[in-house]
Amino acid sequence: MFLNKKKEERVLPQHIAIIMDGNGRWAKKRSLPRKAGHAAGSKTFKDIARYCNKIGIKYLTVYAFSTENWKRPKEEVDNIMNILRDYLKDTENFKGENIRLQFIGERGPLAEDIKELMLKAEDDSKNATGLHLNIALNYGGRDEIVHAVRDIVSRGVKAEDITEDTISENLYTSGQPDPDFIIRPSGEYRLSNYLIWQAAYAEYWFSDVLWPDFRPKHLEQALDEFSKRNRRFGGV
Ligand code: FPP
Repeated sequence: MFLNKKKEERVLPQHIAIIMDGNGRWAKKRSLPRKAGHAAGSKTFKDIARYCNKIGIKYLTVYAFSTENWKRPKEEVDNIMNILRDYLKDTENFKGENIRLQFIGERGPLAEDIKELMLKAEDDSKNATGLHLNIALNYGGRDEIVHAVRDIVSRGVKAEDITEDTISENLYTSGQPDPDFIIRPSGEYRLSNYLIWQAAYAEYWFSDVLWPDFRPKHLEQALDEFSKRNRRFGGV
């Protein structure tokens, strides 16, 4: 009874952004190859996305692969791309979920079959009314801003007509509310070029839990903290 009341009063973020960090360390602790960490991290990703949808979060953005991640050994890059392929091919991941999928990042360098799977997943889910799930793939915040500026300039927009909204509207997240809550597990306290424009007013929550060990109960702790920080007690 009390629990329900408490949950009703809770202020939920509109848009959660997560840096899924710590897969490699999780695997190392278990003397497993790094790919086992990414596989476990992928399972966590699916569980947390479903959970966000269940509790009514409107937007979730996860960092799956950064523009810097190409520097990793080819085997590891291929492994992460294969996890993504499997995720997109497995219709069980989307059945009955009502989740709208969108990819953010520079698609150019990705494999053709992955680009096709991405487009198909976006198209298939475009009318979903539940969680809007952004997967950041070959994403970099500075890179995103450079692309936005190039687009604006190439359309001949006059310098004096450029506002903050002009920049926002030309980012991959155009039309979406900015993330108001950024979660980074695994004991790192950096933004790592993630949504650097959009994160201007976000709250942050850090945890030592490695991403593959991250469970809905950890998200709940984070959400309670978010709510505490945002409770207005009737004021403005
Ligand atoms: C960071 O941990 C994690 C990544 C660079 C990859 C994240 C990818 C997944 C969880 C799979 C995503 C899959 C889908 C379907 C979206 P790290 O390897 O940097 O860990 P470490 O810092 O402990 O080495």
